[in-house]
Amino acid sequence: MNTQSGTVLITGATSGIGRELLGIYHAQGFNVIAHGRSEVKLHDLKDHYPGLQTVCADLAHPASVDAMMADILRDVPRLDLVINNAAVQERGVLTDVEFSASLADREIAINLQAPIRICHAVIKAWTEQGHTGTPQRTGVWSRIVNVSSGLAFFPKTGSAIYCASKAALHSFSQSLRYQLVAADLPIAISEVFLPVVDTPMTAGREIAKIPAQQAALAIHDGILAGQNEIYVGKARLIPVVTRLSPSLMKSILRKG
Ligand SMILES: NC(=O)c1ccc[n+]([C@@H]2O[C@H](COP(=O)([O-])OP(=O)(O)OC[C@H]3O[C@@H](n4cnc5c(N)ncnc54)[C@H](OP(=O)(O)O)[C@@H]3O)[C@@H](O)[C@H]2O)c1
Repeated sequence: MNTQSGTVLITGATSGIGRELLGIYHAQGFNVIAHGRSEVKLHDLKDHYPGLQTVCADLAHPASVDAMMADILRDVPRLDLVINNAAVQERGVLTDVEFSASLADREIAINLQAPIRICHAVIKAWTEQGHTGTPQRTGVWSRIVNVSSGLAFFPKTGSAIYCASKAALHSFSQSLRYQLVAADLPIAISEVFLPVVDTPMTAGREIAKIPAQQAALAIHDGILAGQNEIYVGKARLIPVVTRLSPSLMKSILRKG
């Protein structure tokens, strides 16, 4: 299998982990479609990465997500890898007077509804393109990667909506994987469970962080190895500690 080429769509490629993933796949000769919500930031990316394709859409709006996917699927002959990376993390503390239910709706739309709509559009397109037969579950081909968090398993006190959206994305990804196996479709679903990573999302937090490039390289390696669940850095402890002492893990991550 040639893993050095293909077309990859990365959402939230203008910042943090998404931007590092873009650099990795671009350097390997992939045709990269970089998604962002700012034309200015996407324009800057094009200056840095020759040949880059870009798409601009605010994932908070379902109609924008659908329009983006329709455009991509019309213009690109074939997508090989889709990385649902874009997300936001608000302070979801419901006892705060400034808690906003509409901000919570927006966070759920970006973190959960958008990846679901993207999965649906891509799977429909791949199915129509005749991706049937023996399931091929290694490497990058016909793979969707949903970027989650250790907080999907053990929520922290702040950011309740963020934690809930990642837990729901995890549940959704598992069911979707079962559905694809049941339908004998050669499409793989990977999930990424990250520790705290040094990106704009975690700016100002005094806590141990791994560099965004390290996170992106680990994600890339997990995809290449065909892993369904990619645990990065300290998140690798989650399955082990969960078995040994779930209450310890709960109390560690609760403080966030
Ligand atoms: N950083 C961590 O510690 C950590 C830990 C666990 C999981 N994760 C996950 O890793 C992924 C990447 O996070 P990151 O830390 O790299 O975050 P980041 O630097 O804040 O990047 C988030 C990306 O999502 C885009 N985005 C935000 N709202 C959007 C919207 N409404 N429509 C379209 N795009 C939007 C941002 O665009 P702009 O550039 O325009 O803002 C940016 O490209 C996320 O799924 C996050 O939940 C991160």
